[in-house]
Amino acid sequence: MRNFLSIEDVPDPSGLVNKALAYKKQPFLDKALGVGKTLGMIFLNPSLRTRISTQVAARNLGMEVIVFNIDKEGWQLEFADGAVMKGDKTEHVKEAAAVLGQYFSILCIRTFPKLLDREEDYDEQVIRQFVKYAGVPVISLESATLHPLQSLADRMTISEVFTEKRKPKVVLTWAPHVKALPQAVPNSFAQWMKDWDAIDFVITHPKGYELDQQFVGTTSVIHDQDEALTGADFVYVKNWSSYQQYGKIINTDPSWMITNQKLLPTNQAKIMHCLPVRRNLVIADEVLDGPDSIVIQQAGNRVWAAQAVISELLRSNF
Ligand code: CP
Repeated sequence: MRNFLSIEDVPDPSGLVNKALAYKKQPFLDKALGVGKTLGMIFLNPSLRTRISTQVAARNLGMEVIVFNIDKEGWQLEFADGAVMKGDKTEHVKEAAAVLGQYFSILCIRTFPKLLDREEDYDEQVIRQFVKYAGVPVISLESATLHPLQSLADRMTISEVFTEKRKPKVVLTWAPHVKALPQAVPNSFAQWMKDWDAIDFVITHPKGYELDQQFVGTTSVIHDQDEALTGADFVYVKNWSSYQQYGKIINTDPSWMITNQKLLPTNQAKIMHCLPVRRNLVIADEVLDGPDSIVIQQAGNRVWAAQAVISELLRSNF
């Protein structure tokens, strides 16, 4: 594995999940693997879980970690080829990424979409440029369209929690929100679920919130949330803005919020969310504080998912 930007970089997703589960049992199994190596974590956007869990993971492998909030502390970056840099952008990514590649063994980037221009966001210019010019392996800490570290932890959590000898039904449901949010988490979750033959996967959302077909594939999409939730073993709750009317909020129907009443037709489903979550808007208190919420376990698993990815990159590239 050279980079970790999407499931397409992973030769064996189930093997990577097993590796993450093994690290959960033995955090210091490979405590010398990363000695003498440095992880650079570059943030263009805020983070709690991704930032801290990846640092803990790298330290468990013996790495040094440096975090750089480039949006606040660095020069403003230009990404366009051939730009005449007469404006407020001081440094081109060609130099910035190449220089960072000299300092770090592995580079991690978080870069959210602007949600203004679909083609620009879905072109993933920022992370592509870092990959092109850094010259070292790159890990996505969430890009404009995908959040693979989150999805690996999600898949790990489902594997860990569900021990019955049948396929669980996993439902990704849209929920209301007051802000326009990226499609990265649902895109990525769909990408990691759709070809996993150990589960049955369904997506539900109001009309107009269709995700990009490249991530959904042949997954069943149901616009009646109650129908979709019937018999669910896992309910993954997430808001996203429209892909068709790009970046727009076209529905805030509060009846899509996940409550105990909504969950009655499920198979006492476990509730997942990537966090942060707005209580009583996306998911009701009674659900988040109830016995079937696994959001904290899910967030805890971010450490082991990141550790599995970093260890694979260390083994494959050094
Ligand atoms: N789920 C997630 O990526 O959380 P943070 O944005 O806090 O990193």
